[in-house]
Amino acid sequence: MDRETRLVHAGRDPERQEGIVNLPLYRASTILYPTMAAYEGRFERRYTSYAYGIHGTPTTIALAEAVAELSGGARTLLTSSGLSAVTQALAAFLRRDDHLLIADTVYQPTRVFCSDVLARYGVEVTFYDPRVGRGIADLIRPSTRVVYLESPGSQTFEVQDVPAIAAAARARGAVVILDNTWATPLNFRAFEHGVDVEIQALTKFVAGHSDLLLGAVTTRTEELYRVVRDGASTFGDCPAPDVCYEALRGLRTLAVRLRHHEASALRVAEWLGRRPEVVRILHPALPGDPGHAIWKRDFRGSSSLFAVLLRTRSEKAVAAMVDGLGLFKIGASFGGFESLIVPARPERTVRPWSERGFLLRLHIGLETVEDLIADLEAGLGRLGATLRDQGEDVA
Ligand SMILES: Cc1ncc(COP(=O)(O)O)c(C=O)c1O
Repeated sequence: MDRETRLVHAGRDPERQEGIVNLPLYRASTILYPTMAAYEGRFERRYTSYAYGIHGTPTTIALAEAVAELSGGARTLLTSSGLSAVTQALAAFLRRDDHLLIADTVYQPTRVFCSDVLARYGVEVTFYDPRVGRGIADLIRPSTRVVYLESPGSQTFEVQDVPAIAAAARARGAVVILDNTWATPLNFRAFEHGVDVEIQALTKFVAGHSDLLLGAVTTRTEELYRVVRDGASTFGDCPAPDVCYEALRGLRTLAVRLRHHEASALRVAEWLGRRPEVVRILHPALPGDPGHAIWKRDFRGSSSLFAVLLRTRSEKAVAAMVDGLGLFKIGASFGGFESLIVPARPERTVRPWSERGFLLRLHIGLETVEDLIADLEAGLGRLGATLRDQGEDVA
């Protein structure tokens, strides 16, 4: 069965729910046991059934099962946010004196967690160039426990050679963790490319409506699942069932929304790429992009999110463009129904960001493309007018 068909049916069984289409919302802290002996044996139950609210209710387990099925992984652990999926996965596998290799282009708060918190707990953290490919082998040490990837990279969209990096890492016994939020498992099948642990911020495309926070850690094996499950339970991290119920609704329409986001983003990106105010578009699905060949080889589609490098460094001119936009709103996150735009300020240590110009990150929502282009066209008009007032040239 195709994954898009599974998305519609996964994690529910109307025949066992009185014919009700959606699984009811189960909320719980306390879960009751029939006997004292059953209660004493509750620890194993947290992997297989309901033990205490923190380990899940039928609603959260339904979403976890549906996400695991979508990903093609063994099991999924749900966490309270996308960021907590990142931190729980890393904390579960790393110990003092372990070495972590992490892409230089990861989501900024992931970077902060590694260089502040993990380093404080005695983990040695090395950032690597996302384009390292099989050269990662030279960076792996006997103590390297985790190799962490995010592809494409946050804000600058470098595509990583996941199969090459994963093969080298696994050959040396390291756990391969990938943040797959941009592509989702519909567009990048992490486990078919050698990944051990896949992270998704379900906040984005799965939720799809900018109204909840949720994370998922999906593992290749049951054994890996138990490591992250134990870690998250120890930290006390879990999502509310209500949020999982909302995410299950989002999951049903993920495929159609994502296809719409993808098609519209490509049209807006191509239009922007022809504008004289633009140096280049950072979007791996565009043929001119440095990551295009690997993207074409490994991905099944693209996403709503890309960046545009403007041919100016004038904050004033860019603010005139962005502040006056009508449809594009200024706000963090992505994956929701409305379009967003934010300034991107990549922080890199391996290869500092040095391209001339002003970088903007766009999320293309579900509005009609012509309306979005008209909004951007007017914005570029304001940018040009401000530059001319300052005595600068647009192109
Ligand atoms: C790639 C990536 N991973 C993780 C996260 C964190 O997700 P959340 O906002 O749910 O904490 C984000 C948020 O923007 C993200 O872009």
